[in-house]
Amino acid sequence: GVGPVRPDGYHELTTVYHALSLYDEVTARRGDQLTLTMEGEGAGALPLDDSNLALRAARALAEHAGVAAHARLHLRKQIPLAAGLAGGSADAAATLVACDALWGTGLSRDELAQLAATLGSDVPFLVLGGTALGTGRGESVSPVLARGNSWHWVLALADGGLSTPEVYARLDRLREDAAAASPLGVPDDLLAALRQRDPEVLAGCLGNDLEAAAVAIRPALRDTLAAGHAAGAFAGLVCGSGPTCAFLTRDAPHAAAVAEALAGSGTCRTALPVVGPVPGARIA
Ligand code: C5P
Repeated sequence: GVGPVRPDGYHELTTVYHALSLYDEVTARRGDQLTLTMEGEGAGALPLDDSNLALRAARALAEHAGVAAHARLHLRKQIPLAAGLAGGSADAAATLVACDALWGTGLSRDELAQLAATLGSDVPFLVLGGTALGTGRGESVSPVLARGNSWHWVLALADGGLSTPEVYARLDRLREDAAAASPLGVPDDLLAALRQRDPEVLAGCLGNDLEAAAVAIRPALRDTLAAGHAAGAFAGLVCGSGPTCAFLTRDAPHAAAVAEALAGSGTCRTALPVVGPVPGARIA
């Protein structure tokens, strides 16, 4: 749920974050300066300069802890770039956790979350993982009780990314008066559904205010959402600011069937079955 634009340019959010089993891996080794290399999904497209969120995370931790920011970071990416999946935020969260261990800086989870919030609105959640309610600009997170349930999703990955600021800006234009967007309440139905075990009940509670804006920029997403529905998914929605779409299914065989149908539909680059919730950034 996206609320009004705040004076600082961010939007007030009430969001349920859910960590899925699609991972990037960050390796941190000793070095005499700070370097970053990468391989995998999007290698070459991700800037390796100071705008890179993993490098900014390492620097922020070093400054906070008063140590030299010396590390050789290596990123193995599976999460596509600019996909609406918070992959860059996941890399930043993992870099904080990895460098904290490498440098022995021993930050508490709370301190890590505070530092994470300076890097991006959803970085604190990527440290925490699981399922959590996000408020504020998304940086304020509290875990959601989910009774050990596991949910089976299919992610339809698209070619090319969407810019998060552009999607928010489009939503503002779609709304008559963005500053007066209605305030957001806690999504009680969704939180209750997460405590039950019925995916069809959960399906009825899913939604994303950013979806209309993502679809306005990328109308082909309508075809992807329709293809997931036709493939028998219980619900489909755009993830974050898109263009990835997530589809809820009953169980692992159902997810495999929906993924196969979506992959063959010609409406996405590929489709991956994943489960959630999973833990946040952690040492493997
Ligand atoms: O916090 P983060 O750097 O990830 O946000 C990226 C962009 O997304 C912001 O610059 C802003 O344009 C938009 N955004 C927003 N409201 C939020 C979170 C992000 O408008 N709550």
